[in-house]
Amino acid sequence: LKLGVMASGNGSNFEVVAQAIQEGKLNAQIQVLIYNNPSAKAAVRATNRGVDAVFLNHRDYKKREDLDREIVKTLRQYDVEFVIMAGWMRLVTQELIDAFPNKIINIHPSLLPSFKGVRAVEQALEAGVKITGCTVHLLCLEMDSGPILMQAAVPVLPDDTAETLHARIQIQEHRILPLAIAALAEGNASLAEGIAD
Ligand code: GRF
Repeated sequence: LKLGVMASGNGSNFEVVAQAIQEGKLNAQIQVLIYNNPSAKAAVRATNRGVDAVFLNHRDYKKREDLDREIVKTLRQYDVEFVIMAGWMRLVTQELIDAFPNKIINIHPSLLPSFKGVRAVEQALEAGVKITGCTVHLLCLEMDSGPILMQAAVPVLPDDTAETLHARIQIQEHRILPLAIAALAEGNASLAEGIAD
């Protein structure tokens, strides 16, 4: 399976996918990393692993559609079959969805449909939930809303801050993201549905 990864930040999820491939746990290749933030550590991680990192600055495009068209062009140039959004902090448009129908997954740091959006971890703390987690889902136009492929539950501890809770959630992200991709690569996505830790 030829993967394209889109990331704006640290890229720890990029790293675990690359690692799973290297260890033979995932039968796939990362063709390209697309990033939109010049200081994204994900780009450094890609370069260190010999993966091309393509910088597309959203500020260079007037409309979201224009950026997405460029993203699609890049993904096609790299012969990408399947797209992983791992901390891509931009809303997407129909341009991208239509180009890769049911072939884009996103990872989100909550048990969706709770706590959509960029403040998912903070919102879980504010709500006082005792269990949160992470979700791998198919991307659709509405933010953090597509069909759920895999989830893992994470306890919220009394002294948690957003940082400590996010760190605990990320341990589970790093476990389920490669598993979800492997399930998709094997055509067994349905097997992965609804799994909780
Ligand atoms: C993850 O928590 C993911 O759920 C969210 O953004 C974060 C990316 O982390 N969408 P990293 O850049 O892979 O470390």
